[in-house]
Amino acid sequence: MTRSIIIDCDPGVDDCIALLAALGAPDRFDLKAITVVAGNVPVETCARNARGVLALAGREDIPVYAGCDRPMRVDPEFAEHIHGASGLGDARLPEASVPVSTTHAVDYLCDTLSAAEPGSITLVITGPMTNFATALKRDASIMRGVRELVIMGGAAIEGGNITAHAEFNIYADPDAAKIVLESGCATTLIGLDATLQIRCTPPRMQRLEASGHPACHASAAMISHVNRIYGEVYGADGAALHDPCTIGYLLDPGLFSSKSVSVTVTTSDDEKRGNTALGAECANGVNWVTGLDDDALFDLLVTSMERL
Ligand code: RIB
Ligand code: CA
Repeated sequence: MTRSIIIDCDPGVDDCIALLAALGAPDRFDLKAITVVAGNVPVETCARNARGVLALAGREDIPVYAGCDRPMRVDPEFAEHIHGASGLGDARLPEASVPVSTTHAVDYLCDTLSAAEPGSITLVITGPMTNFATALKRDASIMRGVRELVIMGGAAIEGGNITAHAEFNIYADPDAAKIVLESGCATTLIGLDATLQIRCTPPRMQRLEASGHPACHASAAMISHVNRIYGEVYGADGAALHDPCTIGYLLDPGLFSSKSVSVTVTTSDDEKRGNTALGAECANGVNWVTGLDDDALFDLLVTSMERL
């Protein structure tokens, strides 16, 4: 039984790898669409990159919808210094032949989730939550169509990566994150506490580079850019595979540990902007991921990409 998913993302190096891992598992995922949002790079670049990933995977039958080109309130904050101006690091993806849809991503999310069977669609979010938050503000009843949210974002023990107190996806649009995390949707939130545990170490980079599969080669080219840029930060451990953790979680949740907690997002425009504070463990809280089996997860993601 495949799971219907929509991936809302800001590709971005690790977003592209998450997309490729999902596309390599058509027996598990019915990827209905990719929606993109301004984040790592401008939304137009995100749309081009999502289409390039689909062209690489031979899946241009999947539509791409461009969404919000700026956060709900704060000024845009891009991460081209990490992902490169292309958002793809050193990689070049095939030219897509199918254009981006003329429908706005927020309209697509509202229409699709409203029409969906109750609890039938899993929304994976690997960028700022602007698109889904805007859709929720327009029509909160769309939640009915959501099975669960699996989101890359936040930090607790790890502090932050864009500031000392915040992870990028939350910081980039804290108001959207607050709306989504307080929506009441069943949510698994995979923050830096977990994602920094899966790094692209030299042996793992060698495995990607030695693979005869285009998706792995493209991933290696993307990650090597981040490793070079961020080398002094990541050191020998290499870049973290943040966004692919969402797909890995859906493929094999047994590789992850988590706890149910309340999560409070700081939306004030001060040094704590975008902070995600965990409350006490509670029933029906956010499923906060605390750890993962990095060897098994890396193998799972590469094996999936090698099916393309
Ligand atoms: O903090 C990591 C997150 O920010 C990832 O989603 C990465 O793609 C960037 O968007
Ligand atoms: Ca991302």
